[in-house]
Amino acid sequence: MSYNDRFIRATRKEQVDAVPVWYMRQAGRYDPDYRKIKEKYSLLDICKQPELAAEVTMMPVKKLGVDAAILYSDIMNPVASIGIDFDIVAGIGPVIHNPITCAADVERLKPIDVEGDLGHVLETIAILDRELQVPLITFAGAPFTIASYLIEGKPSRNYLKTKELMYSQPDVWHQLMAKLGDMAITYLRAHIRSGGKAFQLFDSWAGALSPADFRTFVQPTVERIFAELGDLPQPKIYFPGVSSGELLPLLGDLQADVIGLDWRVSIQEGRRRLGGGKAVQGNLDPTVLTAPMSVIENRAAEIIDQGLQEPGFIFNLGHGLFPEASLSKLAELTAFIHSYSAKAIAA
Ligand code: CP3
Repeated sequence: MSYNDRFIRATRKEQVDAVPVWYMRQAGRYDPDYRKIKEKYSLLDICKQPELAAEVTMMPVKKLGVDAAILYSDIMNPVASIGIDFDIVAGIGPVIHNPITCAADVERLKPIDVEGDLGHVLETIAILDRELQVPLITFAGAPFTIASYLIEGKPSRNYLKTKELMYSQPDVWHQLMAKLGDMAITYLRAHIRSGGKAFQLFDSWAGALSPADFRTFVQPTVERIFAELGDLPQPKIYFPGVSSGELLPLLGDLQADVIGLDWRVSIQEGRRRLGGGKAVQGNLDPTVLTAPMSVIENRAAEIIDQGLQEPGFIFNLGHGLFPEASLSKLAELTAFIHSYSAKAIAA
């Protein structure tokens, strides 16, 4: 099999033979083989075994036929290296044992030591670089999204403590953003050095902010991350997360190649708000996957029709896959996206 570069071509707004597709959170929670591995090992156990982490990363490529792999890891993985103790608790998500509450907590955060503390991640990337026939996307959590876990101590609905720190101690907040920005830059650069072919910055919860607060408290650091990594030729994706439609007009000048859209804004409207210039990725509502196949295909076709109106489109979901998704429907959807778009492009 020859190397499949559809995904990379689409990030550069080049001609493609079919629309590339990958799914956020495609690593196998819906896959019985993955669940069998999870009976023995936790997420962090798997990440610490490069051969196994590489195998889990490759499973959706083999089973679903997607055009890109995403590294099996978690956005929380690097925070242990800066001095945060956490666990990923089944049914909850990341839980922090020493949440950030004050200036001293931010001050004691160390710089990340990727080679020393996260060598297993770099080794996994190197294995995948040798074995994959599709590009490997690596990722980091964006500063706001990581901060929300570090401050709340667990997943949150309203980000009360996070916003309290942001509004009442802006200097401490900006120092935290700076440190988490440095963490993302160093970590992502190491990924690319080890063989990553593209990266995505996940800002899953930034849509909780008003555009004015995003602009003041978050955007400068997101801009700095992409600017400082601007010398890397690899495609860069920013995912501003769920309910981020109102933030899109702020992202037109970001030095990212691709912006991820959620399903509340259409592909066409998303492009309009971004002001042209960027490739877009998205945006099927993952809950649509509960529908009969004919409904799923109709929704996917609408997205593809809009996506193909301009160069630079990558099919994805508007947010992560949930464990209840069906492996066979996902494989069928992937094949449909390829065949439907190939016909439309050839016509
Ligand atoms: O895309 C992939 O499948 C690759 C691996 C990946 C994981 N987490 C593995 C994981 C990726 C890209 C992530 C990113 C991530 N992690 C995000 C950003 C994407 C998004 O969904 O918005 C966020 C917010 C997290 C934090 C996190 N980790 C949560 C909220 C949870 C629990 C809820 C959930 O979705 O399962 C996790 C745990 C986690 N990360 C699991 C996996 C496979 C499930 C638990 C497990 O298998 O141990």
